[in-house]
Amino acid sequence: MTVSKNPDDIKNMFNKIATHYDANNNFISLGLHKIIKKKAVKELNIKNNMRVLDECCGTGDISGYLRRRNKYIDITGIDFSEKMIQIARKKYPDITFLEGNCTHLPFLNNSFDIVTMSFGLRNIENYKAAIKESFRVLEDGGQFMHLDFGEKNFISKIFDFIASKLIRLFYGNKIPYEYLVKSKKEFFTPENLIREFESEGFILKKRKDYLFGVISMQIFKKSKTAYC
Ligand SMILES: C[S@@+](CC[C@H](N)C(=O)[O-])C[C@H]1O[C@@H](n2cnc3c(N)ncnc32)[C@H](O)[C@@H]1O
Repeated sequence: MTVSKNPDDIKNMFNKIATHYDANNNFISLGLHKIIKKKAVKELNIKNNMRVLDECCGTGDISGYLRRRNKYIDITGIDFSEKMIQIARKKYPDITFLEGNCTHLPFLNNSFDIVTMSFGLRNIENYKAAIKESFRVLEDGGQFMHLDFGEKNFISKIFDFIASKLIRLFYGNKIPYEYLVKSKKEFFTPENLIREFESEGFILKKRKDYLFGVISMQIFKKSKTAYC
């Protein structure tokens, strides 16, 4: 049976796990998620005064790495879980975090030079609307960075097994490990995901795989002019 991604349920789930979210990520990835997020952000072509949107920002990891990369960019994080946003605001008081749904972004067309989404799309029922919205708010020539689980290979299966055991052992039912593993299993392979983005008009500029492909990052561009 496919995992339910009803937006209210997803929002409630992230509100419930918000206080454990950072610690759990550090624990199940042995801190590797931070290194990967930092590396992924480094792949972006960031210049002073750029307007950057971090979609599904959660507790603000990507927003924080963007800020470390450049003090002179304007960063907005958006997420529909008020509890995740509260934590992001505490961690990064100089970044603007808004509550909102990535399938209906409260921004005008062409408002951002860079849009990022890390471990977000996998949780969105109407993922096509989220891709279309990202395209709409991005400036012509702008960059979209997507990061999430990638290949469903042997290493990925080992990760699922160990992560679910560890989460169950240390967090009991506080973290829905079954959702994590199922949503990961049912998510697009990087190749299929790239096709989804291309069908909405994005052009793939870069792809990097981390941890033997278990995590995959893609940078797309909105238009045909080369930037890298
Ligand atoms: C797995 S967390 C990722 C958080 C952060 N980007 C990271 O890399 O750690 C997924 C986040 O997406 C948010 N989310 C899921 N669907 C959303 C939607 N339709 N609109 C806005 N936020 C959404 C959740 O509330 C949650 O904070």
